[in-house]
Amino acid sequence: MLRDARMQDVAELRALLAAAWAATYRDLIGDDALAAMTREALRPETLAAALGDPSRLTLVALDGAALLGVVAAELRPAATHVARLYAAPGAEGRGVGTALLAALRARRPDMPVTLHVASANARARGFYAARGFRDRGPGREIVAGVAFDVRVLELPVGAPMAPSSTAPRTAAR
Ligand SMILES: CC(C)(COP(=O)(O)OP(=O)(O)OC[C@H]1O[C@@H](n2cnc3c(N)ncnc32)[C@H](O)[C@@H]1OP(=O)(O)O)[C@@H](O)C(=O)NCCC(=O)NCCS
Repeated sequence: MLRDARMQDVAELRALLAAAWAATYRDLIGDDALAAMTREALRPETLAAALGDPSRLTLVALDGAALLGVVAAELRPAATHVARLYAAPGAEGRGVGTALLAALRARRPDMPVTLHVASANARARGFYAARGFRDRGPGREIVAGVAFDVRVLELPVGAPMAPSSTAPRTAAR
């Protein structure tokens, strides 16, 4: 099931994001930068503050009590900007990411959805392209002092968002 993240999710959210970042970025930025980024950007109090911020929205996917994925977005005036989208390591390819994106978009159907994806993250870029996101060009993002070359992506209002070819096994209720 999918629901809004709650304060009591912070510890599990932190663990999921730390594991996903390690799996995704270790080869790209190295152990030291990964450790610094994780320490700085994933402080429990920072995550808790984001959950209490009305200009942000965080949705989680659950299978029973287990956290399978998260999408965290900034509700910007002209776009819903995805700051984070991760399936838990081991839960990829089960429709979680697609279901989270669809649920996020449904909250503000009259807004485009934007995001930055690391240019080197070919798998995620393929995922977004297959879901209907357009590449708006290069950008740069700094996360807790660690710089990433990124692609700026946008899912326009009304553009069809292709479902995952893998049937969602976490029913979006
Ligand atoms: C990218 C990600 C969010 C997609 O979510 P997901 O739940 O795995 O994706 P879904 O099951 O909804 O969709 C499956 C699609 O994602 C693609 N995909 C991307 N990364 C994948 C991965 N690590 N494992 C399996 N499929 C992956 C598959 O090719 C598949 O494409 P298709 O349906 O067009 O054939 C997720 O795989 C993930 O967290 N990956 C690692 C971290 C990451 O790169 N996050 C994005 C940061 S911007």
